[in-house]
Amino acid sequence: MPRRKVGIIGAGNVGATSAYYIAEKVIADIVMVDVVEGMPQVKALDFLHAGPMRGYDVSIQGTNDFSAIVDSDVVVITAGVARKPGMDRMDLLKVNAGIVKTAAKHIAQYAPNSTVIVVSNPLDVMCHVAYRTTGFAVRRVVGMAGILDSTRFRYFLADELHCALSDVHAMVLGGHGDQMVPLPRFATVAGIPITQLLDKAAIDRLVDRTRNGGAEIVAHLKTGSAYYAPAASVPEMVESIITDRKTLAPCAAYLRGEYGIENLFIGVPVLLGKNGVERIVELDLDESEKALLRDSAAAVKKGVADLDTFFDIR
Ligand code: LAC
Repeated sequence: MPRRKVGIIGAGNVGATSAYYIAEKVIADIVMVDVVEGMPQVKALDFLHAGPMRGYDVSIQGTNDFSAIVDSDVVVITAGVARKPGMDRMDLLKVNAGIVKTAAKHIAQYAPNSTVIVVSNPLDVMCHVAYRTTGFAVRRVVGMAGILDSTRFRYFLADELHCALSDVHAMVLGGHGDQMVPLPRFATVAGIPITQLLDKAAIDRLVDRTRNGGAEIVAHLKTGSAYYAPAASVPEMVESIITDRKTLAPCAAYLRGEYGIENLFIGVPVLLGKNGVERIVELDLDESEKALLRDSAAAVKKGVADLDTFFDIR
């Protein structure tokens, strides 16, 4: 099988940690591109020095030259600024839209057959920027954050129940924002619905903590946002795409009527395979879950409308 290649745009905390996890977990060569001179180079070299001990046999290149992503199978956009305490992810919209637009132009030019994974915030709105700028087929542009929000929910559930992390599965849908939609009805421990293991007050508390998972980190860190868990979500998606594993996970995908939502990227369960988003899975949501998803979609729509006001995205 030919070597696979992953391009990562942005070698900051999320980009570099993604590269590290991909090197350890996924068999693919990696190119990290960043505009800061010397930074991607030094991070790549440092990773490679650790390679004989950590056992990854992939090539890792750090560069300021976007053309190095040529022929990537997958390109991950992590470039952008992170929020500070008191900021909403939407506060990053204007500055990050410009950064993501530049990244997407380079992707269209140098890696026209790639699948794009968007990680920069505000995530769902940035998917629109990447989609419109690249002109790629909708299934070739996908956003990361549902896996991150779900892994936080999984961790909080395992911690509450004192059970193995790997036994807990959960789904968080909607936009990656304050109105994300954790779905307790679809969370299980080794197949047992959590509604049989925890009372409503405990579930509500963990749902709230999940919604505020990113903000909790920002409040502690003060200078930026989380990166280990966001970055760990990236190889899950990259691996499923390049090995055609068809993982079912919540990701931001472009909806055309599914869940009653039109022309919007938002987090829903999808199958990820060699063609990118290969299927959108429509869950049978109850009325209150549907209402939460509608509210979350309205918040993302507002972000997209802001984008159209501020920005000539085409
Ligand atoms: C978070 C930010 C990165 O959820 O969106 O941690």
